Amino acid sequence: MILESIELSNFRNYGAARAEFSPGANVISGRNAQGKTNLLEAVCLLARGRSHRGARDRDMIRFGEDSARVEARGSAFGREMVIEARLRRAGRRETRRNGVKLSRPGELGGVISAVMFEPEDLELVRGGAAERRAELDACISQLRPGYASALASFNRLYAGKLKILRAGREKPSLLGALDDYNHGLCRYGAKLIFYRASFVRKLAGRAAEVHRECSGGEETLELIYRTERGAETDGRGSAPEEIRAVAAALEARQKERREHEIVSGTCLTGAQRDDVEILIDKIPARAFASQGQARTAALAVKLAERELMAEELGEAPVLLLDDVLSELDETRREFVLRKIRGGQSLITCCEPGEIPFPEGGGALRVENGAVTRRGPRIGGAREAGECT
Ligand SMILES: Nc1ncnc2c1ncn2[C@@H]1O[C@H](COP(=O)(O)OP(=O)(O)OP(=O)(O)O)[C@@H](O)[C@H]1O
Ligand SMILES: [Mg+2]
Repeated sequence: MILESIELSNFRNYGAARAEFSPGANVISGRNAQGKTNLLEAVCLLARGRSHRGARDRDMIRFGEDSARVEARGSAFGREMVIEARLRRAGRRETRRNGVKLSRPGELGGVISAVMFEPEDLELVRGGAAERRAELDACISQLRPGYASALASFNRLYAGKLKILRAGREKPSLLGALDDYNHGLCRYGAKLIFYRASFVRKLAGRAAEVHRECSGGEETLELIYRTERGAETDGRGSAPEEIRAVAAALEARQKERREHEIVSGTCLTGAQRDDVEILIDKIPARAFASQGQARTAALAVKLAERELMAEELGEAPVLLLDDVLSELDETRREFVLRKIRGGQSLITCCEPGEIPFPEGGGALRVENGAVTRRGPRIGGAREAGECT
């Protein structure tokens, strides 16, 4: 997917703004608090169906306004695409693809795809399992819309089960519904486990390669998907058969833990506890990696995600780099800039000259919710001018 332009109205600190992009690297500069991250968030919203910061719809609407609109134009596999999301302070979000209203926001997944890298991504290595699961879920949802709906069903059932377990202490009759919830969680959970395991297996190989290149071959990076005992799969083979086998293993484990769950009032088994273990030279990175090692590992994972998604989708996702290049040393920065050639990227920084003007790319300046640019438009000549 190539993103040609994005139009924002009443989105975050933007009143009415339009930004046009080049097909290569687009460097977006601007002082603090001008709207650079908000612009990338709008792209994420369309690509992933949700804000990368996990913001609620009403928080993305400009203060004092009732609704916001984000529209992106671009092309995917040679076809023109217009996608749109309308957020409302009261009421549901509305999404459209080429003017046609979609019944579920998840259906937007895969029209444009994006991989985001920001300083907080060190949490991928250092943070808890939830950070790593969220990252997997965001990538796989863009590759398979069916995964996004399985995840939504799983999360709904999980929230319901937690309520039952908590309220069941006071009112045991509520526990009658527990087995139905458990059955659904095993069914959807098995799907999540199969596709996560398959994604991590492929990602691990690529991340190890990128990491080797980036660290000068000095260290090895391993990613290992960890799930419920007995429910392990490498995500190969026939999906329906493997998923059935994983579901059966989850059900067995669930039965073992049922009484403990009722007594403790918490969920003790299931796909909501999965993790990706990251090892650098066989040592768990979460506890032992240095700052530099954690940064290189996070970078390798992100660049590998982009490569893998490009291969699976047949087109490179847009790479969104928020404030990260200035944090990298010279060698790593050059590595990233070299590695991302051949696809589209949006790169933010504070000072206009901080990142060299990318050959064949564009430079945008964000100032108080207004965007100006220079550089070639898609299919157009190099020019300077206003976009808003
Ligand atoms: N719903 C909203 N309505 C109006 N303004 C908002 C809303 N949400 C956030 N803002 C404002 O948008 C401004 C720009 O935020 P953004 O995170 O995009 O800045 P930035 O250019 O990335 O800055 P930095 O370089 O510090 O990262 C902030 O001052 C923030 O208060
Ligand atoms: Mg920012």
